[in-house]
Amino acid sequence: MDLYEYQARDLFEAHGVPVLPAAVMQDASEAAEAATRIGADSGGVVVVKAQVKVGGRGKAGGVKLARSPEEATQAANDILGLDIKGHTVGTVMIAQGAKIAEEYYFSILLDRSNRTLLAMCSKEGGMEIEQLAVERPDALARVAVDPLVGIDDAKAAEIVQEAGFDSDHDEIASALKKLWKVYQEEDATLVEVNPLVKTEDGQILALDGKVTLDENADFRHPEHADLVDEAAADPLEAKPSPRA
Ligand SMILES: Nc1ncnc2c1ncn2[C@@H]1O[C@H](COP(=O)(O)OP(=O)(O)O)[C@@H](O)[C@H]1O
Ligand SMILES: [Mg+2]
Repeated sequence: MDLYEYQARDLFEAHGVPVLPAAVMQDASEAAEAATRIGADSGGVVVVKAQVKVGGRGKAGGVKLARSPEEATQAANDILGLDIKGHTVGTVMIAQGAKIAEEYYFSILLDRSNRTLLAMCSKEGGMEIEQLAVERPDALARVAVDPLVGIDDAKAAEIVQEAGFDSDHDEIASALKKLWKVYQEEDATLVEVNPLVKTEDGQILALDGKVTLDENADFRHPEHADLVDEAAADPLEAKPSPRA
Protein backbone atom coordinates (compact mmCIF):
# COMPACT_ATOMS: atom_id res chain seq x y z
CA MET A 1 0.00 0.00 0.00
CA ASP A 2 1.42 3.35 -1.08
CA LEU A 3 0.86 6.26 1.27
CA TYR A 4 0.15 9.88 0.51
CA GLU A 5 2.94 12.34 1.24
CA TYR A 6 1.09 13.68 4.29
CA GLN A 7 0.73 10.16 5.71
CA ALA A 8 4.44 9.52 5.15
CA ARG A 9 5.20 12.86 6.83
CA ASP A 10 3.15 11.83 9.87
CA LEU A 11 5.03 8.51 10.15
CA PHE A 12 8.34 10.37 9.81
CA GLU A 13 7.34 12.74 12.59
CA ALA A 14 6.25 9.85 14.83
CA HIS A 15 9.72 8.30 14.43
CA GLY A 16 11.63 11.53 15.04
CA VAL A 17 12.59 12.28 11.45
CA PRO A 18 12.79 16.09 11.17
CA VAL A 19 9.84 17.42 9.12
CA LEU A 20 8.06 20.77 8.81
CA PRO A 21 4.70 21.71 10.31
CA ALA A 22 1.86 21.04 7.87
CA ALA A 23 -1.93 20.79 7.56
CA VAL A 24 -4.13 18.82 5.18
CA MET A 25 -7.43 19.89 3.64
CA GLN A 26 -9.92 19.12 0.90
CA ASP A 27 -11.32 22.63 0.68
CA ALA A 28 -9.49 25.84 -0.26
CA SER A 29 -11.58 27.79 2.26
CA GLU A 30 -9.35 26.30 5.01
CA ALA A 31 -6.10 27.40 3.35
CA ALA A 32 -5.83 30.97 4.66
CA GLU A 33 -6.15 30.01 8.32
CA ALA A 34 -3.65 27.14 7.92
CA ALA A 35 -1.20 29.35 6.02
CA THR A 36 -1.39 32.02 8.72
CA ARG A 37 -0.69 29.51 11.46
CA ILE A 38 1.95 27.45 9.64
CA GLY A 39 3.69 30.40 8.01
CA ALA A 40 4.07 32.30 11.29
CA ASP A 41 7.64 31.02 11.73
CA SER A 42 8.67 31.29 8.07
CA GLY A 43 7.87 34.91 7.21
CA GLY A 44 4.44 33.89 5.95
CA VAL A 45 5.92 31.58 3.31
CA VAL A 46 4.21 28.21 2.85
CA VAL A 47 4.10 25.57 0.14
CA VAL A 48 0.80 24.18 -1.14
CA LYS A 49 1.20 20.58 -2.31
CA ALA A 50 -1.11 18.26 -4.24
CA GLN A 51 -1.65 14.96 -2.45
CA VAL A 52 -1.61 12.35 -5.20
CA LYS A 53 0.31 9.09 -5.27
CA VAL A 54 2.62 9.99 -8.13
CA GLY A 55 5.96 11.74 -8.28
CA GLY A 56 6.82 14.81 -10.29
CA ARG A 57 4.05 16.90 -8.76
CA GLY A 58 6.27 19.98 -8.76
CA LYS A 59 6.77 19.95 -12.52
CA ALA A 60 3.06 19.25 -13.05
CA GLY A 61 2.04 22.44 -11.19
CA GLY A 62 1.10 20.55 -8.03
CA VAL A 63 3.58 22.28 -5.67
CA LYS A 64 3.25 26.05 -5.28
CA LEU A 65 4.96 28.58 -3.06
CA ALA A 66 2.64 31.09 -1.38
CA ARG A 67 3.81 34.22 0.42
CA SER A 68 0.52 35.23 2.04
CA PRO A 69 -2.76 33.64 3.16
CA GLU A 70 -4.37 35.02 -0.01
CA GLU A 71 -1.74 33.39 -2.22
CA ALA A 72 -2.19 30.12 -0.31
CA THR A 73 -5.94 30.21 -0.96
CA GLN A 74 -5.29 30.92 -4.63
CA ALA A 75 -2.77 28.08 -4.87
CA ALA A 76 -5.11 25.63 -3.12
CA ASN A 77 -7.89 26.64 -5.55
CA ASP A 78 -5.56 26.11 -8.51
CA ILE A 79 -4.29 22.73 -7.31
CA LEU A 80 -7.53 21.15 -6.05
CA GLY A 81 -9.17 19.44 -9.01
CA LEU A 82 -5.97 19.46 -11.05
CA ASP A 83 -5.23 16.30 -13.04
CA ILE A 84 -1.69 15.04 -12.39
CA LYS A 85 -0.75 12.04 -14.51
CA GLY A 86 -4.33 10.78 -14.41
CA HIS A 87 -4.84 11.44 -10.68
CA THR A 88 -7.36 14.12 -9.74
CA VAL A 89 -6.23 16.17 -6.74
CA GLY A 90 -8.79 16.02 -3.94
CA THR A 91 -6.50 16.92 -1.03
CA VAL A 92 -3.75 19.48 -0.54
CA MET A 93 -1.13 19.78 2.16
CA ILE A 94 0.07 23.21 3.27
CA ALA A 95 3.61 22.97 4.62
CA GLN A 96 5.92 25.55 6.12
CA GLY A 97 8.25 27.03 3.51
CA ALA A 98 11.90 25.99 3.88
CA LYS A 99 14.90 28.03 2.78
CA ILE A 100 16.69 25.28 0.92
CA ALA A 101 20.48 25.39 0.62
CA GLU A 102 20.99 21.86 -0.78
CA GLU A 103 18.75 18.99 -1.92
CA TYR A 104 19.72 15.34 -1.34
CA TYR A 105 18.18 11.96 -2.12
CA PHE A 106 17.73 8.97 0.18
CA SER A 107 15.80 5.73 -0.09
CA ILE A 108 15.71 2.31 1.43
CA LEU A 109 13.99 -0.52 -0.34
CA LEU A 110 13.70 -4.26 -0.65
CA ASP A 111 16.07 -5.51 -3.33
CA ARG A 112 14.27 -8.73 -4.22
CA SER A 113 16.76 -9.87 -6.84
CA ASN A 114 19.65 -9.76 -4.37
CA ARG A 115 17.55 -10.85 -1.37
CA THR A 116 18.74 -7.93 0.67
CA LEU A 117 17.84 -4.35 1.50
CA LEU A 118 19.33 -1.52 -0.46
CA ALA A 119 19.96 2.04 0.69
CA MET A 120 20.45 4.63 -2.03
CA CYS A 121 21.76 8.08 -1.29
CA SER A 122 22.94 11.09 -3.24
CA LYS A 123 23.96 14.61 -2.45
CA GLU A 124 22.41 15.55 -5.79
CA GLY A 125 18.71 15.24 -4.98
CA GLY A 126 15.75 17.03 -6.43
CA MET A 127 15.50 15.12 -9.68
CA GLU A 128 13.60 11.90 -9.90
CA ILE A 129 15.56 8.78 -9.05
CA GLU A 130 15.17 7.21 -12.50
CA GLN A 131 16.71 10.33 -14.05
CA LEU A 132 19.45 10.53 -11.42
CA ALA A 133 20.33 6.85 -11.93
CA VAL A 134 20.64 7.38 -15.69
CA GLU A 135 22.23 10.82 -15.81
CA ARG A 136 24.46 10.77 -12.73
CA PRO A 137 24.96 7.09 -11.81
CA ASP A 138 28.27 7.83 -10.09
CA ALA A 139 26.53 10.33 -7.83
CA LEU A 140 24.12 7.71 -6.51
CA ALA A 141 25.57 5.57 -3.73
CA ARG A 142 24.10 2.08 -3.41
CA VAL A 143 24.77 0.36 -0.11
CA ALA A 144 23.46 -3.10 0.84
CA VAL A 145 21.78 -3.21 4.25
CA ASP A 146 21.52 -6.41 6.27
CA PRO A 147 17.89 -6.58 7.41
CA LEU A 148 18.97 -8.10 10.73
CA VAL A 149 21.32 -5.22 11.49
CA GLY A 150 19.62 -2.34 9.72
CA ILE A 151 21.06 1.15 9.55
CA ASP A 152 23.08 1.41 12.73
CA ASP A 153 25.84 3.94 13.43
CA ALA A 154 28.36 2.09 11.27
CA LYS A 155 25.98 1.62 8.32
CA ALA A 156 24.80 5.23 8.47
CA ALA A 157 28.43 6.40 8.43
CA GLU A 158 29.12 4.12 5.45
CA ILE A 159 26.16 5.51 3.48
CA VAL A 160 27.15 9.12 4.25
CA GLN A 161 30.72 8.35 3.19
CA GLU A 162 29.71 6.55 -0.04
CA ALA A 163 27.41 9.43 -1.02
CA GLY A 164 30.38 11.78 -0.65
CA PHE A 165 28.94 14.31 1.77
CA ASP A 166 31.66 16.73 2.80
CA SER A 167 29.93 18.15 5.87
CA ASP A 168 27.00 17.57 8.28
CA HIS A 169 27.87 13.86 8.56
CA ASP A 170 26.36 13.42 12.01
CA GLU A 171 23.09 15.23 11.24
CA ILE A 172 22.58 13.28 8.02
CA ALA A 173 23.49 9.96 9.66
CA SER A 174 20.99 10.70 12.43
CA ALA A 175 18.20 11.30 9.87
CA LEU A 176 19.09 8.06 8.05
CA LYS A 177 18.93 6.04 11.27
CA LYS A 178 15.48 7.44 12.03
CA LEU A 179 14.30 6.71 8.49
CA TRP A 180 15.49 3.13 9.05
CA LYS A 181 13.24 3.00 12.12
CA VAL A 182 10.32 4.03 9.92
CA TYR A 183 11.20 1.27 7.44
CA GLN A 184 11.61 -1.40 10.09
CA GLU A 185 9.02 -0.54 12.69
CA GLU A 186 6.26 0.20 10.16
CA ASP A 187 7.09 -2.87 8.01
CA ALA A 188 7.68 -0.78 4.90
CA THR A 189 9.04 -2.04 1.59
CA LEU A 190 10.03 1.45 0.49
CA VAL A 191 10.95 4.66 2.28
CA GLU A 192 12.07 7.43 -0.05
CA VAL A 193 12.93 11.04 0.76
CA ASN A 194 13.38 13.30 -2.25
CA PRO A 195 14.41 15.84 -1.34
CA LEU A 196 16.12 15.50 1.99
CA VAL A 197 17.38 19.06 2.38
CA LYS A 198 19.85 21.19 4.21
CA THR A 199 18.34 24.57 5.01
CA GLU A 200 20.19 27.87 4.96
CA ASP A 201 20.45 27.69 8.74
CA GLY A 202 21.93 24.19 8.58
CA GLN A 203 18.97 21.96 9.51
CA ILE A 204 18.51 18.59 7.80
CA LEU A 205 14.81 18.07 6.92
CA ALA A 206 12.69 15.57 4.99
CA LEU A 207 10.67 17.78 2.61
CA ASP A 208 8.97 15.02 0.62
CA GLY A 209 8.28 11.42 1.56
CA LYS A 210 7.13 8.30 -0.19
CA VAL A 211 6.36 5.20 1.88
CA THR A 212 5.05 1.82 0.75
CA LEU A 213 3.83 -0.47 3.52
CA ASP A 214 3.99 -4.26 3.33
CA GLU A 215 0.36 -5.43 3.33
CA ASN A 216 1.50 -8.89 4.45
CA ALA A 217 2.50 -7.36 7.77
CA ASP A 218 -0.82 -5.61 8.37
CA PHE A 219 -1.66 -8.05 11.18
CA ARG A 220 1.16 -6.45 13.19
CA HIS A 221 -0.22 -2.95 12.56
CA PRO A 222 -3.91 -2.54 13.30
CA GLU A 223 -3.30 1.23 13.15
CA HIS A 224 -2.43 0.98 9.44
CA ALA A 225 -6.10 0.27 8.67
CA ASP A 226 -6.78 4.01 9.09
CA LEU A 227 -4.31 4.75 6.32
CA VAL A 228 -6.16 2.40 3.95
CA ASP A 229 -9.53 3.99 4.66
CA GLU A 230 -8.27 7.45 3.84
CA ALA A 231 -6.96 6.24 0.50
CA ALA A 232 -10.13 4.30 -0.28
CA ALA A 233 -12.26 7.34 0.56
CA ASP A 234 -10.98 8.91 -2.64
CA PRO A 235 -12.52 6.79 -5.42
CA LEU A 236 -10.04 8.04 -8.01
CA GLU A 237 -7.14 6.85 -5.87
CA ALA A 238 -8.70 3.55 -4.81
CA LYS A 239 -7.67 0.32 -6.48
CA PRO A 240 -10.37 -1.21 -8.67
CA SER A 241 -12.20 -3.82 -6.62
CA PRO A 242 -12.08 -7.38 -7.94
CA ARG A 243 -15.27 -8.45 -9.68
CA ALA A 244 -17.09 -11.52 -8.50
N1 LIG B 1 8.20 22.81 2.39
C1 LIG B 1 8.89 23.22 1.32
N2 LIG B 1 9.56 24.41 1.33
C2 LIG B 1 10.26 24.83 0.26
N3 LIG B 1 10.36 24.13 -0.89
C3 LIG B 1 9.73 22.95 -0.98
C4 LIG B 1 8.96 22.42 0.12
N4 LIG B 1 8.46 21.22 -0.25
C5 LIG B 1 8.90 21.01 -1.51
N5 LIG B 1 9.65 22.04 -1.96
C6 LIG B 1 10.32 22.16 -3.28
O1 LIG B 1 9.49 21.64 -4.29
C7 LIG B 1 10.12 20.58 -4.97
C8 LIG B 1 9.09 19.52 -5.34
O2 LIG B 1 8.41 19.09 -4.18
P1 LIG B 1 8.24 17.56 -3.81
O3 LIG B 1 7.55 17.49 -2.52
O4 LIG B 1 9.56 16.86 -3.88
O5 LIG B 1 7.25 17.02 -4.93
P2 LIG B 1 7.50 16.08 -6.22
O6 LIG B 1 8.65 15.19 -5.91
O7 LIG B 1 6.24 15.31 -6.39
O8 LIG B 1 7.76 17.03 -7.36
C9 LIG B 1 11.19 20.07 -4.00
O9 LIG B 1 12.27 19.49 -4.69
C10 LIG B 1 11.59 21.35 -3.29
O10 LIG B 1 12.56 22.05 -4.08
MG1 LIG C 1 9.88 14.88 -4.38
